[in-house]
Amino acid sequence: MPFIYGSPDKCMITMKRVDTSPKGLFDPYYVPKYLLHRDRDLETIDGIYTDSYYDEYGVNCLVHGITGVGSTVFSRYFLTRLVPERFDAYTIYCDVKNKDLLEIISELNEKIHYEAKKPVTFTFDLDVMWLDFKRTARSSSKRTVFVLDNIDERSEEVYAKIAQLSKEINASTIGVLNSHDYRLLTKSHARSMAYDFEIALDTYTQSQLYDIVRLRVEETFSQGLTDDIIRYITDCVVEFDASKPKTSIEALRVLWPLARKGKEIDSDAVRAATADIIPFGQDQDYLDIIDTISMNDFMTLIVLECLAEHLMRFKTETYIDRNTLDEIVQIKCEELDIRYVIDDIYRSLQTLIFQSVIFESKHSRNLLYILVPPEILYDAAVSLRRELARRK
Ligand SMILES: Nc1ncnc2c1ncn2[C@@H]1O[C@H](COP(=O)(O)OP(=O)(O)O)[C@@H](O)[C@H]1O
Ligand SMILES: [Mg+2]
Repeated sequence: MPFIYGSPDKCMITMKRVDTSPKGLFDPYYVPKYLLHRDRDLETIDGIYTDSYYDEYGVNCLVHGITGVGSTVFSRYFLTRLVPERFDAYTIYCDVKNKDLLEIISELNEKIHYEAKKPVTFTFDLDVMWLDFKRTARSSSKRTVFVLDNIDERSEEVYAKIAQLSKEINASTIGVLNSHDYRLLTKSHARSMAYDFEIALDTYTQSQLYDIVRLRVEETFSQGLTDDIIRYITDCVVEFDASKPKTSIEALRVLWPLARKGKEIDSDAVRAATADIIPFGQDQDYLDIIDTISMNDFMTLIVLECLAEHLMRFKTETYIDRNTLDEIVQIKCEELDIRYVIDDIYRSLQTLIFQSVIFESKHSRNLLYILVPPEILYDAAVSLRRELARRK
């Protein structure tokens, strides 16, 4: 039977919302039920470690990607889910971030003793500790997979030591680091990290990020969130924060207390939850942009007014689709007794999108969204339209 790594999307759709717990939002080491859209990378790492396990040699692998893309969860999914299912091995995870040598060795030492069920000798002497660690690791009955997460300049040496030891004792290591430190530590001439393989984790597309956020919502929000809200969160993160799942999960963390209190999550709440990443202009900036693009352009103002009015009225609708907008504009044109030309609407929308007043969803170009509260755009559009009418 082929081994299944993550889960096909179908499983998510049929998955019952059973136990939800906010742990999935607040625990930085949380491993979700499925690691989505990483099948190829899991297959690679699984293949490498399977060979090393059965042929009895140690391998050292580096996993890297931009911060927030999911390097920690990737290594932890492999260590806590796949390794125990596949091999009879000890698994040791150590987050080395902001820890000094003594802290790291002491943690590794404690963990290897715990796995080997041996009492650990208490000491503050680094050399004694290192010897004790080496002895226990060497004499253990099982092979070990070590994960050292967040390696940087300060901890590269300790990783090198563990990697070298692993070669001697047929253990394996996974070093996890962000793209910046990866380049710094592996590409500069003076240094050379000891590793046999590397896995570069790619960023996600909007729809992949959507799947990840949706699964996390299912695992953490007892009432769920609407598809539109999830889509809106992911659109904002794809557009402004390099599709980092971390940022999306942080937004969920802000929304969670509101949902728990039974508040309806609308577009205003999502904007507040993603405010840190969105380069909000001042209200005056928007007025200026709209003022400039609408010079003598009545239609652009009408399109903007209709779009903003719709989103003001339906706060939980985070998008408006192009057809609905066309219909609303048509009605508005009749009301104001102006000629309705569909090409003009299309042109107006292109201008507004080009000027970053309106955005197209990466999910479907048919869906349009905005980042400022619609009230601001509405007021600007209406007042400028009136002024234009007066000038004529
Ligand atoms: N493929 C994925 N499937 C499910 N959750 C993911 C996936 N990739 C990332 N995540 C989630 O995104 C968040 C950030 O991931 P993390 O591993 O902490 O990022 P990094 O270590 O790269 O900064 C975590 O909540 C993680 O569980
Ligand atoms: Mg990490």
